Amino acid sequence: MSTTTPRLEIRNITRAFDGRRVVDDVSFKVMPGQVTCLLGPSGCGKSTTLRVIAGVDMQDTGEIYIDGKLICDTVFRVPPERRSVGLMFQDFALFPHLSVAENVAFGLSGSRAEKRARVEELLRRVDLGRYIDDYPHQLSGGEQQRVALARALAPRPKIMLMDEPFSGLDNRLRDEIRDETLRVLKEEGAAVLLVTHEPDEAMRMADEIALMRRGRIVQQGAPYNLYNAPVDRAAAAFFSDINVIRGKVQGLLTETPFGQFLTPAMPDGSEVDIIIRPQHVKIDFDRNGRGPNPTPEDGVPARAVVERARFMGSESLVEFRMDYDGTVLKATVPAVFLPKPGTPMWLMIRRDRCFVFPSPGQGRAAQVAG
Ligand SMILES: Nc1ncnc2c1ncn2[C@@H]1O[C@H](COP(=O)(O)OP(=O)(O)OP(=O)(O)O)[C@@H](O)[C@H]1O
Ligand SMILES: [Mg+2]
Repeated sequence: MSTTTPRLEIRNITRAFDGRRVVDDVSFKVMPGQVTCLLGPSGCGKSTTLRVIAGVDMQDTGEIYIDGKLICDTVFRVPPERRSVGLMFQDFALFPHLSVAENVAFGLSGSRAEKRARVEELLRRVDLGRYIDDYPHQLSGGEQQRVALARALAPRPKIMLMDEPFSGLDNRLRDEIRDETLRVLKEEGAAVLLVTHEPDEAMRMADEIALMRRGRIVQQGAPYNLYNAPVDRAAAAFFSDINVIRGKVQGLLTETPFGQFLTPAMPDGSEVDIIIRPQHVKIDFDRNGRGPNPTPEDGVPARAVVERARFMGSESLVEFRMDYDGTVLKATVPAVFLPKPGTPMWLMIRRDRCFVFPSPGQGRAAQVAG
């Protein structure tokens, strides 16, 4: 088999409930050793997609392949237990009457000694060797989570399907267990499909993100690409707060507080949204109203007055009211920077960090241009 055969591939999967398509023509691939995150807002069809792949639900149309072999279409169907798929769900329920070792060994076949060896190996991996003979109620939530991970990995699944597996944990613990889980999964060489509605989790875990909305995949790629080249305004807004500067196209150009933007693919008179993340708004001092000089990257600076500044820990969020048109623009700055409301300042936006889209209701995205 060639190394480029996807571990998992789903093609044109559709699943409807009561005539409503909650998964609508979804296709994607997960490569061996890779973590793909299915990311999207609540109700967009993530869990349904996962259940179809696991074989606990059945698609209306479409095919599923593992290592290039068809395992399920609308006629033919390999049962869930023969798909070599490991499952880990939010409510991962360990068996309360079985010890940690017995929980992990649950899906294993082979001799007693082989099973014991595999159980010990996995518990060592997840750093729980000392709890091998304890019972689930004697462990913390995070420890139980790691036992569930060991249990899911024990039969060496080719694919791990994980549905919001970390959502029951508090923040600090979650970061730790996420990283540890990722390490164990990579060591085991499993391909992972992880469902989450949290962009931070997806960016932390994923080699690739499939962004889902209303049953469809709207964009797929490396986290860097989704963050830096979103397909539309909603995709941009999914990953962080955004600023929207609205303008009207006139002779290929759009006038903004930050000078003119080239917006060539848009007809005259149409409205465009120029999107910039608060992290990419630069701040400079007033210098008695003179402000900084324009530069090729940052374009023309615009004057604004501080409306409010909030301390957020590792960064501060400052809201400005623009002199130009009275709109509000947000900027995040590293560390503590808390100017008083009413302070005049100058803002600049990195043009290569701007995304230009037609205002909602005006058709398709145009090329980003500066
Ligand atoms: N068995 C079912 N019968 C009817 N409707 C269903 C069924 N399962 C899911 N749905 C509907 O399908 C839609 C998608 O559900 P799904 O659980 O896949 O969403 P999700 O993306 O996992 O959301 P969340 O992030 O909240 O878990 C929802 O509107 C849900 O109500
Ligand atoms: Mg779900």
